[in-house]
Amino acid sequence: MCGIVGYVGSDNARDYIIDGLKKLEYRGYDSAGIALQTEDGIIVRKKKGKIANLEQEISGEKLYGNTGIGHTRWATHGAPSDINSHPHISEDESIAIVHNGIVENYMDLKKWLNDEHGIVFKTETDSEVIAQLISVLNKGDLEEAVYQAVSMMRGAYAFGVISKNEPNKIIAYRKDAPLIAGLGKGCNFIASDIPALLKYLNKIYLIENDELVICTPDRVEIKNKEGQTVKRDILQVNWSLEDAEKDGYEHFMLKEIHEQPKAIRETLTRRLDENDNIFLDGISLTKEELENFNKVYIVACGTAYHAGLVGKYVIEKMARIPVEVDIASEFRYRDPFVDDKTLFIAISQSGETLDTLAALREAKSKGARILSVVNVVGSSVARESDDVFYTWAGPEIAVASTKAYTTQLICMYLIALYMGRLRETISDEYYNSILSELKATPAKIEKILDKAGEIENLAKYLYNRTNVFFIGRGLDSAVAYEGSLKLKEISYINSFAIAAGELKHGTIALMEPETIVISLATQDSLFEKMLSNIVEVKARMAHVVSVAKEGNTKIEESSTEVIYIPQCTDEVSPLLTVVPLQLFAYYVAREKGEDIDKPRNLAKSVTVE
Ligand code: AGP
Repeated sequence: MCGIVGYVGSDNARDYIIDGLKKLEYRGYDSAGIALQTEDGIIVRKKKGKIANLEQEISGEKLYGNTGIGHTRWATHGAPSDINSHPHISEDESIAIVHNGIVENYMDLKKWLNDEHGIVFKTETDSEVIAQLISVLNKGDLEEAVYQAVSMMRGAYAFGVISKNEPNKIIAYRKDAPLIAGLGKGCNFIASDIPALLKYLNKIYLIENDELVICTPDRVEIKNKEGQTVKRDILQVNWSLEDAEKDGYEHFMLKEIHEQPKAIRETLTRRLDENDNIFLDGISLTKEELENFNKVYIVACGTAYHAGLVGKYVIEKMARIPVEVDIASEFRYRDPFVDDKTLFIAISQSGETLDTLAALREAKSKGARILSVVNVVGSSVARESDDVFYTWAGPEIAVASTKAYTTQLICMYLIALYMGRLRETISDEYYNSILSELKATPAKIEKILDKAGEIENLAKYLYNRTNVFFIGRGLDSAVAYEGSLKLKEISYINSFAIAAGELKHGTIALMEPETIVISLATQDSLFEKMLSNIVEVKARMAHVVSVAKEGNTKIEESSTEVIYIPQCTDEVSPLLTVVPLQLFAYYVAREKGEDIDKPRNLAKSVTVE
């Protein structure tokens, strides 16, 4: 997510903005910039990389201006670079803007601005369009120009704008992306988020959708879409800075578990046109090329690898093409059978995992087509791939991956459906049924999250166990691996996953009275088989916590506890089944008082062998 900060007052805006941007660093970003209204007009300074690079850039300059805007960029359109960083300035240097969100119709607007006004764009971004648009529409009234520009824009955005011709003023507009206004002493602010302003004030206005806000040193005025001033209560903020970064959640991990419905909606809906046809932005695979592949290889590490296990099931089932899934650190030394008929899919949240990058290079050297599923725009894995399919999960701060995993699954389903349709291995009816199931998952996940208290209670009396098995069949076995990793990496409890059918081939010897067995039984087609496995472990006095679909109450006969997930088709159940497991791991680790967001020995991105 990008970060916005603006200051207008009697002091130099520069330090307030830089400090505010630093308070937004937790959101993740790849570049930063500032625009100041100075006696020589609007000055813009912006740099790829950390805010320290920007500070270095301006350290020798006497940059003074009492009005300014700043930005930390999380790249969406256009790779991270100095020129693509914000603020963006109009061609005539009269308007500067900072923007958070997406202008969906930016290509149409670019064409109009170029055809009608001869505007030549300097960047690959959608955001630059806003600066150019407001500039050409500005006939001496910035507020009016903003309203006109907004009437032409489509998307989800919050932006701040300053004009050379209207000093001591910031105008900002909100549509579906966060925006607040801060009330200071002799100064006022705009920002994307509360942490940016906490050092200076504790009175804010929350800006609602389709509202415009005008900030000057001594007033903040909010107007609705029709230009009428609206009354807004002042919100007194008593959060600590730390609380504010977590939006009130105790840990980033819990916040990111709860962000999954939104992350899934973002990742899914942007790839569907008005007729629910999938367009895989960033992927230029043609039908002929897809038909040329005789194998798919999915290679990744950790949680991303577990997403690949689900990918194998759904791509094989829908596209009827053999899929191999491999751990990157093994793949790269196996001299794998890969050639120009292989589609190699690398999955990586950070896009910097060295093992995955090395595996990608190995596959590339053997002629494979490289498609990567990545969360960080412009990361190494993304840059070295032929095609990139981004998960729009937003920055994932907690080391334990949650929303990245479920959005990686969404990308697996979209690739499977897309390939299945192109290869004509699925009917339109099946395609539509799966798509509507996927679109229904955010609301179903919200239902599970509403019952988080039940899982918290379960964790409260199971947290001190030392051995936990996760078992499942089919897609549930893939999710079992992810559930086990979540528990072990943040609670440090020894847990492992095994295909339920494999238990009797040795592992069941480990079963002792009160051993915890988390049994995933959401696959209708394998439900009876799972019941037998549960009876098997129950007979050895295990404590069985089952996860099943609502209505399958027969499972209660042989389980100690049952966690129900909303009804869904077998194919999409991993998106739901994983959520109680994420919550269970979180609350167990919380009961144990562990450092949940930064577990011992772990890094968010493993850039070593
Ligand atoms: C998952 O919770 C872990 N943090 C870890 O397994 C992670 O998934 C793995 O290191 C891969 O990281 P990547 O997705 O950034 O490549």
